[in-house]
Amino acid sequence: MAERSAPIGVMDSGVGGLSVLAEIRRLLPNETLWYVADCGHVPYGEKSPDYIRSRCRRIAGFFHEQGAKAMVLACNTATVAAVADLRAHYPGWPLVGMEPAVKPAAAATRSGVVGVLATTGTLQSAKFAALLDRFASDVRVITQPCPGLVELIETGDLASHALRERLQGYVEPLLSAGCDTLILGCTHYPFLRPLLAQLVPAHVAIIDTGAAVARQLHRLLEGADLLATGPARDTQLWTSGDPASLLGVLPVLWGQPGSVERFGF
Ligand code: DGL
Repeated sequence: MAERSAPIGVMDSGVGGLSVLAEIRRLLPNETLWYVADCGHVPYGEKSPDYIRSRCRRIAGFFHEQGAKAMVLACNTATVAAVADLRAHYPGWPLVGMEPAVKPAAAATRSGVVGVLATTGTLQSAKFAALLDRFASDVRVITQPCPGLVELIETGDLASHALRERLQGYVEPLLSAGCDTLILGCTHYPFLRPLLAQLVPAHVAIIDTGAAVARQLHRLLEGADLLATGPARDTQLWTSGDPASLLGVLPVLWGQPGSVERFGF
């Protein structure tokens, strides 16, 4: 039986999941958080589901062996590839995945046109097709894969010319098609909100699922009587890439205390 004070393991292919980690920290300030950024293998978006599953197994195994009481797949691409596999492998372990916010976007759109920015892996998945069938049969959904965006966000330079140009190229066709609701279907993209505010008219709603993931985590922990009473210990981060690089971007992308170690699996 896990203890209430045990940490929660959160993972992503890189720094994107920090956008979700921030929502978890906001909603659950008493929880101790662990984060693995799989920066040595980023991006997941163009990799095979088998490859992503094997990375997620390693990271989940690490969290589980070290005594994490729950895990969050803070990555849409990893969720479509690996959440079913991990649930089968760790029955009874609270595990939260995530998916693009198609349901709230379909409810919110007035123009009837919704745009989805996400990775190729997410957009090509059967899980995403099922999500559209279930919630978006009455609206027009335009999907836009965004290769190259994640690598630029990983540098932590969120105001670069290259990032702005690439993002503009992805967003413009959606706007020309009349999209008034834009789904950020990758956890890296919430870091683009300031840039998007310059590129997208104010009437376009921008939706991501970080806060919903934090609420779902809260529900699962409450249901299992595993909510921590605090105080939280410092956030511990690992990276399969270069710890110095992750440390360098943390002030911009996380902005809270935390130490970084190398994840060598
Ligand atoms: N942050 C990830 C997601 O939510 C994946 C980015 C990538 O590695 O391609 O989809």
